[in-house]
Amino acid sequence: MQVRAISTPNIALIKYWGNRNDELRLPAADSLSFALDRPTVEVVIGSAKQFSARSFGPDGIKRELSEKESGRLLKHFLITKKYLREIGSGDGFPKSVSLEIKSQIPKSVGLASSSAIFSALAEGYAKFAGKLTRREVSVIARLGSGSASRSVFSGFAAMIAGQGDSIGSSYAVQIAPKKHWTLWDIIIVPSTKEKETGSTEGHALARTSPLFEDRLREIPRRQKMCIEAVLQKDFEKLQKVAEEDSLNMHAVMASSTPPLNYLSEETHRIIREITALRERERLAVLYTMDAGPTVHLLCTKDALSSVRAYARAQDKCAIFEACIGRGSHLL
Ligand code: DP6
Repeated sequence: MQVRAISTPNIALIKYWGNRNDELRLPAADSLSFALDRPTVEVVIGSAKQFSARSFGPDGIKRELSEKESGRLLKHFLITKKYLREIGSGDGFPKSVSLEIKSQIPKSVGLASSSAIFSALAEGYAKFAGKLTRREVSVIARLGSGSASRSVFSGFAAMIAGQGDSIGSSYAVQIAPKKHWTLWDIIIVPSTKEKETGSTEGHALARTSPLFEDRLREIPRRQKMCIEAVLQKDFEKLQKVAEEDSLNMHAVMASSTPPLNYLSEETHRIIREITALRERERLAVLYTMDAGPTVHLLCTKDALSSVRAYARAQDKCAIFEACIGRGSHLL
């Protein structure tokens, strides 16, 4: 049997940073995002006698997986198997698998491919397992990459942190489908340099920041406000809470030991200019940054042409555009 699935990254409005259990990627707090409609990652999963994984870049050329990357894929397969046994859905699941990962994510985009890869794999594994709920699919995605759990839904999705240490205790839920509110993500990438500390290592440092406990206390209020803003399609409310949360996550990162300074001078310049442009032209645009200097400018259709023009005028920055998308699905 062979299964094909496809997925995309998502962009967080309330950020996931820090775990209560690093091994199982059980988050310390809730988060919220919307799925992007591109760039895509397609996976082909076949049952096999021995585990293998091959990866292909946007040009279709084979990309050698590092030992760390192959190890993460194998670990994800094994823990998925364990979870499926736990929920009584492990019977038809293959002893091992061969994976083909075809990514359309250009290296220069500064978008993490892991959310797209692991949500696509979760979709495929779920097909092998038989009838699983969307919540169970989101748990499988989370086991490979925390934020991937949110990519299994169309439109807006929240990751529910939950409590305890059981594999299924944290999962994602849909807040609103993509047709609810058409938002765009204009991505400005000031640097394509490989970052020194990836998210997995970064999550483990969150607790060393003196600001982390305060962040955990604030997130329930922000998450609630963000859900309301999405449901009411209130862009101003969304802008306030999303920018507050992104800046707070970066304050936590920068005050951890060792400090993680992902933002660059260019990031700060873009933030300043976008804030001024928003005031001058009364634009529905907000900025948000993940674990890197890349700035995501989220906007409504009305603001799109101005935001696009601003992005295109940036010297030496790679630009990428995406709209709200439908999340992972089978092909
Ligand atoms: C800053 O999901 O990339 O983008 O589980 O180690 O893959 P892993 O972490 P990951 O963390 C995402 C961090 C973030 C914020 C977010 O997307 O919520």
